[in-house]
Amino acid sequence: MLELLPPPPTDPLWDLTAEYAADERPERLNLVLGVYRDAAGRTPVMAAVREAEIRLAERSASKEYRGLSGNTGFNRALVEMVLGAGDGAAGRAAAVQTVAGSGALRLLADLICRTRPGTTVWISDPAYVNHRPILEAAGLRVRPFGWVDAEGGFDAAGVLRELSAARRDDVVLLQGCCHNPSGVDPSPQDWAALADLAVRDGWVPFVDLAYHGLGGGLEADLAATRMLAARVPEMLIAVSCSKNFGLYSDRTGCAIVLGASGRAVRHAETTLQNAARTLYSMPPEHGAAVVTTILEDERLHALWRAELDVMRGRIAANRTDLTTHLSALGCEAQARSLARQKGMFSMLPLSAEQMLRLRRQFAIYGTTSGRINIAGIPAHRIPFLAQGIAAVVLGTGTGTGPGVDAGAGEGARTRQSPAVSSMP
Ligand SMILES: Cc1ncc(COP(=O)(O)O)c(C=O)c1O
Repeated sequence: MLELLPPPPTDPLWDLTAEYAADERPERLNLVLGVYRDAAGRTPVMAAVREAEIRLAERSASKEYRGLSGNTGFNRALVEMVLGAGDGAAGRAAAVQTVAGSGALRLLADLICRTRPGTTVWISDPAYVNHRPILEAAGLRVRPFGWVDAEGGFDAAGVLRELSAARRDDVVLLQGCCHNPSGVDPSPQDWAALADLAVRDGWVPFVDLAYHGLGGGLEADLAATRMLAARVPEMLIAVSCSKNFGLYSDRTGCAIVLGASGRAVRHAETTLQNAARTLYSMPPEHGAAVVTTILEDERLHALWRAELDVMRGRIAANRTDLTTHLSALGCEAQARSLARQKGMFSMLPLSAEQMLRLRRQFAIYGTTSGRINIAGIPAHRIPFLAQGIAAVVLGTGTGTGPGVDAGAGEGARTRQSPAVSSMP
């Protein structure tokens, strides 16, 4: 049977990670994955998470099966965190714990498909690399709309113009903050205009939250989602705890639905449970238990918020520092776009060829679209990164390492199946 398999496509980010792992140049710098690294280049376990884990281990709670919605305390806590406490939008929400943000995206895509097969979901261009594959795997149609203008800012007029073609039966997938890959977010006025359009034309907003707390602060990063939730009758929200709790490998997330009637919300919740049942039955408990322990304990909650602020501050400082270095080296366009963007990622105005030169000559790994992970730069490597960028922009410098094969693209591997320690 397996002999019949045609050669499958591979994931470009995985391939690039493998290429990085095989690169033996000591100065190599991995800016591909959406992972936070501290000043020493490590991805630490947050102190609030460690303390919650110790408490859970001491309590040695049972590992008996959870229900189909997973950890219901976790679901309640996440609804409150995302939508705010009280009787507002949270009062017409249902939530199901999922296998991280990706699992939430997939379950909600299944919900859309079970409601109306073949629904069109609009996604930004550029989009998070896994948006289209997840939606299409669930049987949905995908239609892209532009996101960034010629100057590298949010293309408000273009987005509103393109989305005015979205119909009542359509769904529009929007990243709630810190847009991946562009780092370009709508202003509060732009978000209000998007909400006006959704209300006028009746399409359903589907908000993907993966970086809340890492852009302008937790409340600021959730403001657009809360505003939309207050204005539209129906909404879908995929929440990831991978980045802001540092629970990448614990696969912790939540799918939230907002409906206009209690009946619709109950049906949606059961539909999500049914979809999960046929995929993996129940989500893993550990990460959800950790998050619940943190959010339900005043001191741990405050500790987590403080740590999140430190992470956010470090990302912002990296951005400022790199901007200053690039500006001093004469890379004004790159400096300007960095300064305008927000969150873990930035998209540098560099061509695919320039990104490949960075990789070949300087062992600096970003994607060929120009995306680099700002949160992944150890502070002391910023001058090195700026000099590499300046060299490819200004056409100077030759780099230090032997480099990978000159023809290597996103899909190339330099060694067979090297160990890969993490994925985006
Ligand atoms: C925009 C966006 N959504 C969702 C995800 C999925 O995150 P995870 O499945 O690791 O929680 C990511 C991961 O990088 C992302 O960037």
